[in-house]
Amino acid sequence: MKKPLLALLLAPVLAWAAGGGVRLDRAPIDPNDLVSLQSGARTFVNYCMNCHGAQYMRYNRLTEIGLTEAQIRDNFIFTGDKVGDTMKVAMTAKDGKAWFGVPPPDLSVIGRSRGADWLYTYLRSFYRDSKTVTGWNNATFPRVAMPHVLWTLQGERSYEPAKGEWKQLTEGSLSPVQYDALTRDLVNFLVYVGEPVAGKRKSIGIIVLFVLGVLFIFAHALKKEYWKDLK
Ligand code: HEC
Repeated sequence: MKKPLLALLLAPVLAWAAGGGVRLDRAPIDPNDLVSLQSGARTFVNYCMNCHGAQYMRYNRLTEIGLTEAQIRDNFIFTGDKVGDTMKVAMTAKDGKAWFGVPPPDLSVIGRSRGADWLYTYLRSFYRDSKTVTGWNNATFPRVAMPHVLWTLQGERSYEPAKGEWKQLTEGSLSPVQYDALTRDLVNFLVYVGEPVAGKRKSIGIIVLFVLGVLFIFAHALKKEYWKDLK
């Protein structure tokens, strides 16, 4: 009981510290929404896997979110990988370091280390900055080495850290509401990758409680039965 309580007390402090000073938006994710998880998986393979892998995730585990092996093979694998392979990245860590100064980290457990709210806020807080190497900066992760890879979707924005002021410079192909939905799905998928059995674990927990409840009723009835004659 001690650890969750401490985590609960520290959570606001940690969220603040990790957020580069910005307030984190709550990510409206739902681990049971398969359509959202599938759309997040699609965005991940299309926009993130050039640089990031998820080496603890195998492609064929995508069948858990309702995809068939044929769908996975045809729509999710662009390299020579097989359905049973892990979602590795083609780029080597050495190249990544040479190109970006920092190798793009593996995202298998990013949902757990950063948390959904941080990821959701991060992917929605890139802005144009002529002073950085990539031409992009991020309000949640200041001076991040990652460019805004979803910028054609969100459009370009500017940000005044001192005033906390955002401005839309050019339109993207998605509306702000659609962009929020796309990042929500992507974060939903990243959290699922880090904890693929979370949904299952919860339903197992409920079954266990139910069985314990039934046992209790029997035990109670039995106890009454035994003690009846002794009183
Ligand atoms: C062009 C290469 C590239 C692409 C494509 C890319 N990233 Fe990154 N990403 C990076 C680099 C480089 C870093 C390391 C940044 C740093 O530490 O300054 C990074 C860092 C991150 C981090 C922060 C990790 C941490 O330190 O906690 C997250 C989260 C992330 N990327 C998510 C994504 C997602 C989601 C996508 C797909 C929408 C994506 N990235 C696409 C290059 C890329």
